[in-house]
Amino acid sequence: MSQRTVYFNGQFVPEAEARVSIFDSALMFGDMAFEMTRTYNRRPFKLREHLDRLFDSLRLMEIDCGLTLDEMERITMETLERNLSTEPDDMDWQIMHDVSRGPLGVYQTAFPNGLKPTISINCWPLITHMGGFAANYTSGVHIVIPAQQAVPAHLIDPKAKNRSRLHYQMASLQAARMGAGRWPVLLDPDGFIAEGPGWNLFLVKNGELLTPEPRNILQGVSRATTIELARNLGIPVRETNLGRYEGLCADEMFCTATTYALVHATTFEGQTIGDGGPGPVFRQLLEAWKEQGGIDFVAQAHDYAERLPNWEAQAAQVT
Ligand SMILES: Cc1ncc(COP(=O)(O)O)c(C=O)c1O
Repeated sequence: MSQRTVYFNGQFVPEAEARVSIFDSALMFGDMAFEMTRTYNRRPFKLREHLDRLFDSLRLMEIDCGLTLDEMERITMETLERNLSTEPDDMDWQIMHDVSRGPLGVYQTAFPNGLKPTISINCWPLITHMGGFAANYTSGVHIVIPAQQAVPAHLIDPKAKNRSRLHYQMASLQAARMGAGRWPVLLDPDGFIAEGPGWNLFLVKNGELLTPEPRNILQGVSRATTIELARNLGIPVRETNLGRYEGLCADEMFCTATTYALVHATTFEGQTIGDGGPGPVFRQLLEAWKEQGGIDFVAQAHDYAERLPNWEAQAAQVT
């Protein structure tokens, strides 16, 4: 069994014992808000921003988790601290928050202690995610437009980070059929580029950084960080409507998300972007990201990739 500890409904329990009921609204409806934060040098990056977004998501979803933001932050730090010693000092972490409405009322007799929201905070060593991802920093990614569209804000606002993600799953399945390693970017019902299943999109045209306006997307913490870094570097930034045309005519394109920060796209819809390598604006931003995080997370990911087979073999022995 892993040594990791999870915060689960008011208690710290071994990871294997943190189980959500089959009667939970999360399982019944995908009715769950969540967040994903990472650490750099074992310190959470922009935790407060992630928790602000979590509480905003809960507000839209009409879930009262029963904790204040300060309490959630304190418990998060305690969860992380309880897990740090299970890995070497050079391990960074993913911190996952999941909050649902709890079990459905019709099943209340199965819950003699009453119905409460389900809250979990778990920490997972980033070696698996980033070790598996490392090669993308070198090769870049291939972005395609799938048939599946984004869910627009007038249906369910994607600004709330929620677990109803079948449309992202469909988009990923469709992209996989277009070729191995293809990353789908969903269009909104007006035909504008929205976002990928777990990332925001940027492109560069004539030295200007462009990103979809925030109407029909999750407003990523990494997206905001990228915009802020670009402004600090004097790179002009604009949030605007972008379509397939703008994608095809871009000089550079890249994706942003919490785990990997940013990765460049080599192709869009099968056509090479620029010279296919990371462009000058991307490279500037990547360096600024590393400086802000206080770590060369690209080198770290390559190091994790080398260590991953051993790590997994050892993890399998203790499980
Ligand atoms: C749909 C979607 N868009 C964008 C993002 C990127 O957000 P962040 O930069 O906060 O990780 C995510 C992250 O999971 C996501 O699920």
